[in-house]
Amino acid sequence: MQNFSFHNPCQIEFGAGQISKLSTLIAADARILLLYGGGSIKHNGVYDAVAAALSQHHWQAFSGIEPNPEYETLMRAVRFAREQQLDFVLAVGGGSVIDGAKFVAAAIPHEGDCWQIIGNRVALKTALPIGVVLTLPATGSESNFAAVISRRETNDKLSFKNPLVFPQFAILDPKTTMTLPARQIGNGVVDAFVHTTEQYLSYPADARVQDRLAEGILQTLIEVGPQTLAEPNDYPARANLMWAANQALFGMVGLGQPQDWATHAMGHELTMLHGLDHAQTLAIILPALWRYRFAAKQAKLAQYGRRVWQLSGSDKVIAQAAIEKTEDFFQRMGLPTRLSAYQLDAHLVADGVAAQLTRHGRVKLGEHLDLTPDDCRAILLTAD
Ligand code: NZQ
Ligand code: ZN
Repeated sequence: MQNFSFHNPCQIEFGAGQISKLSTLIAADARILLLYGGGSIKHNGVYDAVAAALSQHHWQAFSGIEPNPEYETLMRAVRFAREQQLDFVLAVGGGSVIDGAKFVAAAIPHEGDCWQIIGNRVALKTALPIGVVLTLPATGSESNFAAVISRRETNDKLSFKNPLVFPQFAILDPKTTMTLPARQIGNGVVDAFVHTTEQYLSYPADARVQDRLAEGILQTLIEVGPQTLAEPNDYPARANLMWAANQALFGMVGLGQPQDWATHAMGHELTMLHGLDHAQTLAIILPALWRYRFAAKQAKLAQYGRRVWQLSGSDKVIAQAAIEKTEDFFQRMGLPTRLSAYQLDAHLVADGVAAQLTRHGRVKLGEHLDLTPDDCRAILLTAD
């Protein structure tokens, strides 16, 4: 096991009805910027529940944060909050709203070009406090310190990380997820699955607790994903899905482990160039990357196949079958695993993603830092 430091200050409030706790989780004298997306929370009662809990607080809403949150939109929120002298950011929504809230919280007090915050090109001195009401289990953004921001004008989808933007609290009420369309349930399951494998499926590092935590999360997702699609009103399945997705990127799975993250790096470029949902890109890239890196990942693929899918046989046979099982699972969750399913030409995609990775300086990816843009091009060509 490699050395590590771990700290996660986010207070989790889990369960049905927990939104009412907002009344005490946020200081009475706070001036709240409530950020939300395209309006799903107005149709499923979440907005009303938040408004009721904040009836004694000063708050102002800013809506319209889009999936893959856009820098220009977020800068409008920043200007609004500065004008109104708001000093607490409350995100109500999925990963896009939460990531947007992290950027806004960092940008409001920032002097200078806020775009420099993205990619960690400037040191942050401070950020406004953040709270979260999560409505889409997927990203783990509700209790981590990462955010992914897009700027369509310049074809950039880039992340930043800073402990200053850890949410102070996250409310996880599984009932808020009951209105998710099947597409977003599938996306959430696959995103959480790939967060786990990015941290777990590299090469053995004798991190036994972390491995078994990862395997438990993966098995849970394999169980509750199909259950949630089949029985949208199954509260226990929703609750387990919400907690599994949270734990996938809470920070503990990857401790002391060599981590990959190449699937995500390529996926962000694919979303930016061709508009696929974040998880759709992962479902295409992960199986192709595992096949391309088969020798380097065989030991861990075999462990995964044995423990998560209960496969038996030689390491090589199990590792191959485990990739097929994974691909089949993504398809059962409603996510195609080939570029052709989106009418995308593999050559066009492969060249475009490789060029973007080069432009963004992402030229040494993977757990061995040896995956080049040329390798990424080759991987995408096999995902035809
Ligand atoms: O905008 P509204 O109207 O709220 O609708 C949203 C949106 O259209 C809808 N939705 C959310 N909750 C709902 C609901 N619809 C009905 N009922 C509900 N309860 O779902 C749609 C997608 O929302 P979005 O927030 O975009 O999805 P997700 O949570 O998958 O977030 C994706 C973003 O997070 C980034 C991705 O790159 C992408 O930009 N990620 C952030 C990470 C992090 N901060 O750690 C890690 C991830 O790897 C990921 O990169
Ligand atoms: Zn992800």
